[in-house]
Order: sequence, then structure tokens, then C-alpha cells
Amino acid sequence: MSNPGIVHRPRRLRATPRVRRLVAEHRLHPADLVLPLFVKEGIGEPVPISSMPGQVQHTEATLGDAVAAAARAGIGGVMLFGIPAERDATGSQGLAPDGILQRGIRIAREAVAAVEAESGRPGPVVMADTCLDEFTDHGHCGVLTPEGTVDNDATVELYATMAVAQAEAGAEVVSPSGMMDGQVAAIREALDAAGHSDVAILAYSAKYASAFYGPFREAVDSALSGDRRTYQMDAANSREGLREADLDLDQGADLVMVKPAGTSLDVLRGVADRSDVPVAAYQVSGEYAMIEAAAANGWIDRRGAVLESVLAIKRAGADVILTYWALEISDWLAQPATTEGRR
Ligand code: PBG
Repeated sequence: MSNPGIVHRPRRLRATPRVRRLVAEHRLHPADLVLPLFVKEGIGEPVPISSMPGQVQHTEATLGDAVAAAARAGIGGVMLFGIPAERDATGSQGLAPDGILQRGIRIAREAVAAVEAESGRPGPVVMADTCLDEFTDHGHCGVLTPEGTVDNDATVELYATMAVAQAEAGAEVVSPSGMMDGQVAAIREALDAAGHSDVAILAYSAKYASAFYGPFREAVDSALSGDRRTYQMDAANSREGLREADLDLDQGADLVMVKPAGTSLDVLRGVADRSDVPVAAYQVSGEYAMIEAAAANGWIDRRGAVLESVLAIKRAGADVILTYWALEISDWLAQPATTEGRR
């Protein structure tokens, strides 16, 4: 390093597509990607989500098609969100054995099984969001006390019941995203007691209160007025993100997640360095919308920006990446590399 006679030339390893490919430290692969999907009760046609161009609220029929497409593309997982026709104060449709999310899980499992039978290759893992905000009439992630704050322990009990309903419907991974204290332990205990010790928990461990969830609120017809700052984390804090991940690991989380990905790459790196279970990151709706909007205006190269944003999440330490571009990225990755851009 200190030999004054040598000029170090890192550009040597950037000189050709051949050498750049050889020395790339990180690569994207469809199997590392998880596609979030929305299924809505009582609609006859898919409904486009205007703030997320290219994404829709699925009917039960088109959900099956989307999961089959993900399976054929070799995508690692699908994360399902349900939008019920009826909402109430306790989010009871989220727990109902025949609620829309449970129906979606069954449809997804069937679609995966069908493609696996025809292709002989593993399909996506079926995961479900284990949270009440899509199901409550006030839009919060839990039930409220008479004073109007979210009641941690009463909510955790509902999450445990919800996780069991999802497992009974066929979810292979349940994903508590409500940031209630003790939610992972309570869900683990309930799953085990119900005979579902093989169902894994993907904990949304470090989940920040974020403006970047804005388009998601449209995607799930959210009723929320106000914010989630008494349960989701403050963007000012990174130690707290590591602590939350440690608590979830102690409670038996099988995977831990950081979210939103793009604004928490430091926390993602920190969690990846200390976690001995796989680490996931969620590239959220607002991250998607920003690139789509800029690209639609011709202000940014869409494909370049998408791939760079996802690769940065991988580089920061994510083993598993949730992204609304999962299908499209898989298509791009399936195309043979070109020798373009030689110099
Ligand atoms: C909670 C949940 C949210 C997202 C995933 N799970 C919304 C929230 O916490 O407000 C956001 C995902 C996104 O923005 O893409 N059910």
C-alpha cells in the first residue's frame, strides 16, 4: 500500500464487461426477491393503484395468476395483503378463517402447487402480513383503548389468533408488522400450541414511521387519519432499530426485517452484522412511486434506477428483498448479459 513506486489502478477491474462481471461482489437473483401482492374482496376486475403505476388490487382470480407468474419467474416469495369489504373496530375480518387474506393465502398455495407440479421447481414461499390496519375501521394496526391509543397487549392477542388463522389457511411465513412489544413471542407460542411449529415468523423488526408508506395507504384503501408514531419508530434513531431486532431475535424470529429499506441502509447493515438469522428489507411503496414518477417524466433511467436501488439494499446486507419490481427484475435478470458499455 505504501510503496511509492506503484500507482494503484483500480480502474483495471472496471475496464471491460468481462472483468466487471467477474469481480461484482453482489448479484441480484430472483430467488432472493419477494413480491408484495394485494387482494381485495368483492371486486370483479383488478383495480389499478394510481400512486403505484403497474400495481393493482387483485381479484381472487387475478391473484392466482400473479402468484403463478411469480412462480414461473423463480421468485423466492410472495407477501400477501388483504383488503376486506367490511371493517370494524377490532379488525375481525383479519382473523376470520374465511376472511379475504385467508382466502388469498389458499389461492396462492394452490397456484404455487400447480406451477411446481408442471415445472418441477420450487415456487415462491407464501407469506402473509400479520397486522390489523387493513381490517380496522380506524386504520390503526391494533385495537384502541378508550383514550384512543393502540392497546399493546390486547392487540398482541389478536395478532396471535390472526397468525394461527393464516397458518391454517396455508401461510408458510407470518409477518407481524405492527411493531407491538412482545408480538413475536406471543405469535410463536400460539402457532406452536395450534400445531404450527413449522410456520416461520418474519418479524418487521426495525420499522420506521415513514412518509414513504403513502402509496400503500391507497393500495389498501386505508382509513387512517393521523399517524403511527406511538408504535412505529422515529427516523432519528438507529440504536433503537438494532435493539428492536435483538428483541425479536430473543423472541424467536426466524427472519428479521428492516423497513423502509432505502432510508434505513445504515440500520440494515447494523442488523445484518449482528443477526444470526436471515435479514430481509422492504423497498416500500413510496420508494417504488418515486422512481416510477421520475422515470415517467423522463427524469431518470428507469431500469438503471430500479436495479441500482435494489442492489444498494443487497449491498447493505439484505438476504431477502421485498420489492414491487420483483417480477420485472426477474425478467431482466433472465436476459443474457450483453457486452454493451465496453469503455
Ligand atoms: C402494515 C404495513 C404497512 C406496510 C407494510 N405493512 C403500512 C404501514 O405500516 O403503515 C407498508 C408497505 C409499503 O409502503 O409498501 N400492514
